[in-house]
Amino acid sequence: MPSTRVRLAVAAVAALALATPFVVRSAADAATTTQQPQASGDFTAAQVLAGIQKNSTSSTQVNTKPHINTMTRKMNVNVYQVAPGIYSYTSSMAIDDDGSDPDPDPDHQGQTTFQTSDGKQLGAHHVPFFVLGDDCWDRKSPCPHFFYKEHNIHGRQFALVFYQGKVIGAIFGDTQTANNQTTSSNDSRELGEASVKAAALLGIPSSGTTGGVDNGVTVTIFSGSSWVVNGTNSTLNNNAQAMVQKALNTLGTAMGLGGSGSPTPPPGGGLFEAETGTLSAGGTFDSNHTGFTGTGFANTANAAGAYVDIPVTVTAAGTQTLTFRYSDGSTAARPATISVNGTSHGTLNFPTTANWDTWAKASISVPLTAGTNHIRVIATTAAGDANIDSVTVS
Ligand code: GCU
Ligand code: CA
Repeated sequence: MPSTRVRLAVAAVAALALATPFVVRSAADAATTTQQPQASGDFTAAQVLAGIQKNSTSSTQVNTKPHINTMTRKMNVNVYQVAPGIYSYTSSMAIDDDGSDPDPDPDHQGQTTFQTSDGKQLGAHHVPFFVLGDDCWDRKSPCPHFFYKEHNIHGRQFALVFYQGKVIGAIFGDTQTANNQTTSSNDSRELGEASVKAAALLGIPSSGTTGGVDNGVTVTIFSGSSWVVNGTNSTLNNNAQAMVQKALNTLGTAMGLGGSGSPTPPPGGGLFEAETGTLSAGGTFDSNHTGFTGTGFANTANAAGAYVDIPVTVTAAGTQTLTFRYSDGSTAARPATISVNGTSHGTLNFPTTANWDTWAKASISVPLTAGTNHIRVIATTAAGDANIDSVTVS
């Protein structure tokens, strides 16, 4: 169901504000937003947000007509593809208090567009969720605005939400209806609304009538079925928060943070997605087989000599173990020569897996130099490489 955050007249809002104290963020809420200690290879929220801002340029802009900031009503919100399949906008946070839980706010309604995994309405006080437009306002395809259905985004799709040094996980829970498309209120071009719980976690006043913030909230959506969050009203929040660090690492890697010219190189080791690399002619980065990490995997051409070349950055020189995550659903192993910066270090076998959705690991030790190394997986048979998902350095 559409969100119906009613915008009260200014005088009424002021009167309510006097009568209703702002919700104070509880210690428990604060704890859930505290970042875990950084493990080796982890990206911080600040690093990733800086990368998002750097990648939010006219060349990555998805919409051709601007969206409306839900709180200020200004038509100045744009959506950027900051990495393959990852979409980001910065706007207000208006407060959606829809869902199944009892709620004192007068504009509360009982239904959300999407539901929990067990079919209940999402509770805005329990589940951090964000709101997108429910149709293409212009009725055109491709939509001149950012329309989620054109971007492999589904109910409960995961997003990182950044605000004033904090980051939380949230899910796509509700939509902003177009209504009759003639008023500026409840317009599907709006962006910048999220649930009571999302606001509370970020320290934003969370009342459905007096809460919200006008600007500075960045919502970064991870598309694709592997980023849909499952759970109930009591588990969805924890399940979303449990994905935050993985999402930061996925996006940090996908944006190439830590490569040359980046603000902070990652520590030695870590996981490097194949889709940050390059392919020989005829190869593609695909996402049609499930179970990959990041935004996809490398599918080289079926030819001897076909390769994927993955940049891997370490802080110190030394011998390291490269562990490739791969899939080979064909009937024969797909051996490949592993080279580092153009020097071959032997042949690694990639035995078959049950099918193309099953992923296995194959390891080899190689010498690396400090800085960026080019790891090339070069097919030795006419079948080409196995599908390569990532390489871990340890
Ligand atoms: C199939 C499969 C691809 C794979 C290819 C191959 O087409 O879908 O992901 O790369 O086989 O044999 O290389
Ligand atoms: Ca292939």
